[in-house]
Amino acid sequence: MQIPDNINIFDTTLRDGEQAPGVAFTVDEKIQIAQKLDQIGVDTIEVGFPTVSDGEKESSRAINDLGLNANISGLTRVLRQDIDALIDSDLNYMHTFIGTSKLHRDYKLKMSKEEILEKAIYAIEYGKDHGINVEFSAEDATRTEENYLIEVYKAAEVAGADIINVPDTVGVLFPSATKELITKIKENIKIPISIHCHNDFGLAVANSLMAIESGANQAHVTVNGIGERAGNASLDEFVVALKVAYGYEHLKIDTKQLFNLSEFISKLTGIKIPINKPIVGGNAFAHESGIHVHGVLENAATYEPISPEMVGHTRKIALGKHTGANSLKSKLKEYNIKINQEQFTQVYNQIKTLGDKGKIITDADLKAIAITALGKAKNESIKLLGITVISGDTVSATATVKLSIDGRVEEKSEIGVGPVDAALKAISKLVKGYIDVELEEYNIDAITGGTDALAEVFVISSNSEGNKATGRSTQEDIVLASVDAILNSINKIIAIK
Ligand code: KIV
Ligand code: ZN
Repeated sequence: MQIPDNINIFDTTLRDGEQAPGVAFTVDEKIQIAQKLDQIGVDTIEVGFPTVSDGEKESSRAINDLGLNANISGLTRVLRQDIDALIDSDLNYMHTFIGTSKLHRDYKLKMSKEEILEKAIYAIEYGKDHGINVEFSAEDATRTEENYLIEVYKAAEVAGADIINVPDTVGVLFPSATKELITKIKENIKIPISIHCHNDFGLAVANSLMAIESGANQAHVTVNGIGERAGNASLDEFVVALKVAYGYEHLKIDTKQLFNLSEFISKLTGIKIPINKPIVGGNAFAHESGIHVHGVLENAATYEPISPEMVGHTRKIALGKHTGANSLKSKLKEYNIKINQEQFTQVYNQIKTLGDKGKIITDADLKAIAITALGKAKNESIKLLGITVISGDTVSATATVKLSIDGRVEEKSEIGVGPVDAALKAISKLVKGYIDVELEEYNIDAITGGTDALAEVFVISSNSEGNKATGRSTQEDIVLASVDAILNSINKIIAIK
């Protein structure tokens, strides 16, 4: 496939990205983002819309003063006051735009086709007279009558524009239409063509790539695809696809920095990266099913189109109901937790049971479950056969516990200040006479937070002879975890005796 060998990456995170609802960068934030964009290697950084505020002018000037490698561009309408504001900010790259579609002409601008053409030409000539690089955008180009659009772009070329941009302002393009449009424009003008895609139908990256395939030389992108409404074409997806799917060899972007940049922008904007977002999403290199994990452990390429290292991300072996023994072994090895076969089976079964209930087992959950298994007493004299708890605001918390104590089945109900207290009291009564134990310490932690977090209970019990033992349990239910932990410690004390 023939694609141009000088594709420019025009990043508009600081302008269109900032137009995403709720996003407003401070001057310092803009400076830092511009530095990172420059480090990663984008060709042009659109830093803002200088005419809109003093802050925009200040940040534009400050970024320009950094002397970065990238071109520093500012947005202007086709108005002298906007262009003067850009000049006043010391920028020498102007991205000027005016709406050209009938909708924009009739409802927004209330101007005729001729007036729009005239204004565009005026702005381009004014910019060129001031020695500025000019990129001209026909806003809503993709809903503009094709003949008129071509007429506007031809006029822009004659007026001296250095590059024309084709904004798909409301994201209505689809790949075959993109191809037709860019091919048509290319047949009519000689200056480079740029594409600016919005993601309303999830096609921004696909359309941008198709534009490049059809001869465009530049694509506008934003980090994480943030921007107006559903956003813009995503920088990471676009450049990685360009490199991997299209085999583009001249990419100047240091793809290893993509993940960090994405996280940085996500933190600054508060816009979370969807877990399943390509390239930088939390699941982009995560594997859960046993078959996939087995393949990945043998050769990651079996289920990964690129390596996580290529984009500065990391591989994740997730555990859940699809987990296979291989994944679990590899995780335990990663955490250097050594357990025997019996303990392994116990951990494996618990993970499957939790997975069946829809729980995703995090690394922290796994460590707690495995450490719990490690601490299980070898021969358990006391086993839990069943437990029922009742609690509420109008009844006393009551627990009925059934235990097997050295083979004898015993059952007792107790009330307490809460279900855990009631259950522990019932256990204490049941084991009295067999072993005299006291609870010395009780700690409970929700491992990962959230209402479905696993509860990790840690206890220390002692007997009258001064023997002490810890007990631990990790379960989705607080009462069960508490009961399991206390029985674990009691069984260990019995084992000492
Ligand atoms: O989407 C759009 O049309 C724009 C223009 C300002 C180029 O962002
Ligand atoms: Zn836009």
